[in-house]
Amino acid sequence: MKNITVVVHGATGIQGAPVVRKLLAAGHRVRAAVRNTSASGLHPNAEPVFADFSAPESLAEAYAGADAVVVQLPLVFAAHAVLHAEAVLSALKSSGVPRVVFNTGGVVATEPVGVPFVDARVLLAAELPGTVEVATVIAPALTYMENLAAPWSAPRVVSGEIAYPLPAELPVPWVALDDLGAAIAELSTAPAPPMLQIVSGPQVLTGEQVATELAAALGREVRWSTIDPGEYEQMLAPRLGAEAAAGIAAAYTPPPQDAPPAPAPDPAVVKVGTTTLRDWAMRQSWHRP
Ligand SMILES: NC(=O)c1ccc[n+]([C@@H]2O[C@H](COP(=O)([O-])OP(=O)(O)OC[C@H]3O[C@@H](n4cnc5c(N)ncnc54)[C@H](OP(=O)(O)O)[C@@H]3O)[C@@H](O)[C@H]2O)c1
Repeated sequence: MKNITVVVHGATGIQGAPVVRKLLAAGHRVRAAVRNTSASGLHPNAEPVFADFSAPESLAEAYAGADAVVVQLPLVFAAHAVLHAEAVLSALKSSGVPRVVFNTGGVVATEPVGVPFVDARVLLAAELPGTVEVATVIAPALTYMENLAAPWSAPRVVSGEIAYPLPAELPVPWVALDDLGAAIAELSTAPAPPMLQIVSGPQVLTGEQVATELAAALGREVRWSTIDPGEYEQMLAPRLGAEAAAGIAAAYTPPPQDAPPAPAPDPAVVKVGTTTLRDWAMRQSWHRP
């Protein structure tokens, strides 16, 4: 397909930056949509464009004349998260952009649950197909490798402990954000993309297996340690603020014992990435400030 112009929301973010890199590598033009257009994390080959989810008119301006938009909503748990989603829908309508890829950033709920962070994503996933010509929702099978090297996690990993709020015995298909970015870049130009794409890593690993892979990459002993969501919240809060930390921790609260297990995704919509945990870990800078 010809090279196209793609607006990428959150282009300086942990999730958005690999999307920008993969789209540019595929030869597309990228408008990096952020509030701070002189941020140091902007890719030099992307065109910075001001877009604030709280200023709907800025979105329509950012979208004007673009071929596609990649939406990543920020980590907002307050009520205005839903206004962000509504602003995206209204700007897409007024600008006439034909195609959207919506990266949910997590496993998507199918119904609103009364949590604005979740409901904003449910709203977008439901409304996008009726708003643009081609809409794809992309979500991880479970979670991302990058969480293991996040600033709140890396120092503990380096000191020998992977502190994470998932059971050690749970098999997790950890996915690298480079694989997510590659999938989004493909979906941005695919002639007939699926309405839902789940992205998974190439390996399904228990906590002990994660520890083995990270130990091999770091060249030191590392052990998996399941922590409760409350401890995870305390790890996140200094970096992300109390509200986001509480919201993320809540997402890791185990379901009640009698809850039916979440249905496995239809294999037909699962795209399996190529990045193994060990290769990913060897590329990380574990001593980030
Ligand atoms: N499931 C998981 O484990 C997991 C982990 C990480 C992230 N996520 C998901 O990914 C999403 C993005 O996270 P991230 O880690 O990439 O975030 P991040 O690193 O904090 O980056 C946020 C990006 O959004 C932009 N932004 C923030 N507020 C904005 C606003 N009001 N209007 C326009 N742009 C705004 C920021 O640029 P400016 O500040 O310059 O605007 C930045 O580029 C999250 O909301 C979450 O859904 C999920």
